Amino acid sequence: MTEFKRRIAVTGGAGFIGSNLLLYLVPKYPDYLFVNIDSLTYAGNLKNLVSLEDSPSYRFERIDIREREAVTACFERYRIDSVIHLAAESHVDRSIDGPLLFVETNVLGTASLLDAALTRYRADKRFRFLHVSTDEVYGSLGATGYFTETTPFSPNSPYSASKAAADHLVRAYHVTYGLDTVTTNCSNNYGPYQFPEKLIPLMFRNARDRLKLPVYGDGSNVRDWLYVEDHCRALDIVFHKGLSGETYNIGGHNEITNLELVGKICTLLDSIIGGGPREKLIEFVTDRPGHDHRYAIDATKIEKELGWTPDVSFDEGLARTIRWYLDNEEWLEECISGEYQNYYEKMYADR
Ligand code: NAD
Ligand code: TYD
Repeated sequence: MTEFKRRIAVTGGAGFIGSNLLLYLVPKYPDYLFVNIDSLTYAGNLKNLVSLEDSPSYRFERIDIREREAVTACFERYRIDSVIHLAAESHVDRSIDGPLLFVETNVLGTASLLDAALTRYRADKRFRFLHVSTDEVYGSLGATGYFTETTPFSPNSPYSASKAAADHLVRAYHVTYGLDTVTTNCSNNYGPYQFPEKLIPLMFRNARDRLKLPVYGDGSNVRDWLYVEDHCRALDIVFHKGLSGETYNIGGHNEITNLELVGKICTLLDSIIGGGPREKLIEFVTDRPGHDHRYAIDATKIEKELGWTPDVSFDEGLARTIRWYLDNEEWLEECISGEYQNYYEKMYADR
């Protein structure tokens, strides 16, 4: 076996953030082995990673993280010494429709991984577990204030509750067994390869095809958007420099209401492909139950202690994202064919 400096299992590597992370880390660390562990749900797509297929330091293993024995065997086979854990069910609306899958994947899946990790940790004390989580665990903000690492958890959706439970398990494995863990809680990501159930690619696709633009409620909900590449840089830094047992909030200082954001997507598309104004396609539809009003991250800790700051402004990142989706029509068409049609019909037909 080649002697790699580190042997890292990246779970959920075929998803949106996982793909961006592997595309960033594999070329950057040629002396590390990266094993992508992913069960390829509707959200996982190996086509994102074709450019890595011939890399000697990249492997793919189709494994469900809930299958503890398969995970343990994989960890043994590759002598894994670290995990970057991204595998999850990630869409809030789907969690409202079917919460149990979220508990199974996000809670039990994380528990199974932690258990497999502990076995490896006992054999190799360098073992590190980076748990990638969300700011949604903190609940909802009013018009002011920010989430810090000490904000009490108050998750409102089955998705955020399942992520919060996973965060607690990670903490417990650190405190009880001494497992070297670090957790990150990040704000909404956007960028290439995001599945078109999420706000930005969904609105891009609908605006491009002149379908209605379904804004939940009155569109005044606020999200704090971070370009996915900035998140990947932060994960790299936390993995290498984060202190054991700590959590780090990651955010872009990019608060914007959903309505303003959809307006920006319309304006960008009008200017690039013409045929506007697309803003007139906006329709206010029935709100999401339990819809969190505002998320906003105070990222002082990671900025001060680890020296990370976001690089990509929102206007720049949004322009890059729209350009990417325009240039990758085939990728998007594949996502929105088949099962997506049923999903869309179920979620939006009666809204
Ligand atoms: P995604 O839905 O795009 O990808 C999830 C990946 O996990 C897919 O490749 C899927 O096949 C895989 N997966 C799902 N269940 C699995 C299982 N049981 N076993 C193995 N693999 C499985 O998600 P994303 O947006 O890339 O998010 C990645 C992680 O980052 C998640 O943990 C999410 O909670 C967290 N996060 C996301 C955001 C965001 O804005 N997208 C923000 C903060 C944190
Ligand atoms: P989403 O991308 O699902 O991320 P999250 O719920 O994790 O923040 O949604 C972002 C915001 O956009 C959220 O306030 C819900 C809103 N939204 C709409 O108004 N319409 C839509 O069709 C979608 C998918 C989201």
